[in-house]
Amino acid sequence: MRVRLAVVGLGNVGRRFLELVQSKHALIQERFDLDLVVTAAGDTSGGAEYFKGLDIATLLELKRSGKGAAAYPQLGRGEASMVEIVRSSEADVLVENTLTNLTDGEPGISTMREALLRKMHIATANKGPLVLAYQELFKLAEKQQVKILHSATVAGGLPVVNIGRRDLSAGEITKFEGIVNGTTNHILDAMARGEAYETALKHAQEIGIAEADPTLDVDGWDAANKLVIVANACLWRATTLKDLTVIGIRTVTPQDLDDARVNNQVIKLVARAEKVGGEWNLTVKPERLDMSHPLAGVGGGYMAVLYESDINGQIFARIKEDNPYPTAAAVLRDVINIFR
Ligand SMILES: NC(=O)c1ccc[n+]([C@@H]2O[C@H](COP(=O)([O-])OP(=O)(O)OC[C@H]3O[C@@H](n4cnc5c(N)ncnc54)[C@H](OP(=O)(O)O)[C@@H]3O)[C@@H](O)[C@H]2O)c1
Repeated sequence: MRVRLAVVGLGNVGRRFLELVQSKHALIQERFDLDLVVTAAGDTSGGAEYFKGLDIATLLELKRSGKGAAAYPQLGRGEASMVEIVRSSEADVLVENTLTNLTDGEPGISTMREALLRKMHIATANKGPLVLAYQELFKLAEKQQVKILHSATVAGGLPVVNIGRRDLSAGEITKFEGIVNGTTNHILDAMARGEAYETALKHAQEIGIAEADPTLDVDGWDAANKLVIVANACLWRATTLKDLTVIGIRTVTPQDLDDARVNNQVIKLVARAEKVGGEWNLTVKPERLDMSHPLAGVGGGYMAVLYESDINGQIFARIKEDNPYPTAAAVLRDVINIFR
């Protein structure tokens, strides 16, 4: 079966996704009978489309040389918006990996709405549109009888959403706990080893895991966004950021970390969902965990989650992720799963 992909967003994740479509093409065709073809691509420069398929090597070379999709020979369109690219692409799947924008969700939210209206499936790593409009987008997808898969939106390559929504589907989840933000986990780990907050943050920026503006990470909002997605997708609860209590790590002092250590504990930024009196209590905050807790041993460079449910026991999953390939691979598995 030929599957036409409109790939919007060609940054760290989008480019790796294109590389994986190229390197895994034969395997995916053999295993799943899916012939993945990129028929449209877009970035801030504009886009390019070709119903027979764009050449991935050409797209990657354009990005390597600092140009954009609009410079694609003969087919590039500098004036095209992402909505126009989707409208004219006639693709089967929108692969949306533009930036996470929590102010208005753009450009992802409009591109996704357009894709759904045109009965295109969506695979995305972009949290913004889901945090702002999860219920709206999923209702539209249901009406249009298409799928939105977003397993890369929570802890990159770790299949947090797949475990919660698919693998615990007949259970009642009673507790979710996660270390889902790599930057804060790196900083707390380094501070526990004696590094100053500023030095640890600077190092996280140098190795590329923290943004130049790390506010979203250190104030807990990135983890909060992920908890909103988990609550909607896995706890089956319509949830927005307003439903959460969020405290970041700026207030954690070396003294706090020392106190924890002498008591055989560690401090972690935990995204937690717990049922209290029949109601979900949703929090992101620094917590002291006993060393025997599964999340206590999740050091810098790792992320992990723990689920408890009425019938599935306790599940703990952890990932080591120090580059964007696992996230791109998660988007690719979503594309495959749309058709399985
Ligand atoms: N990096 C990770 O490991 C990771 C993990 C999990 C989830 N995510 C999520 O995945 C998404 C992509 O992340 P990334 O690291 O690949 O980001 P990135 O490197 O900043 O790439 C963003 C891409 O979006 C394009 N873009 C931005 N604004 C646009 C607009 N108005 N119209 C069209 N294209 C636009 C950019 O175009 P140009 O190339 O022209 O600048 C770029 O190609 C984000 O939503 C992020 O939160 C990332």
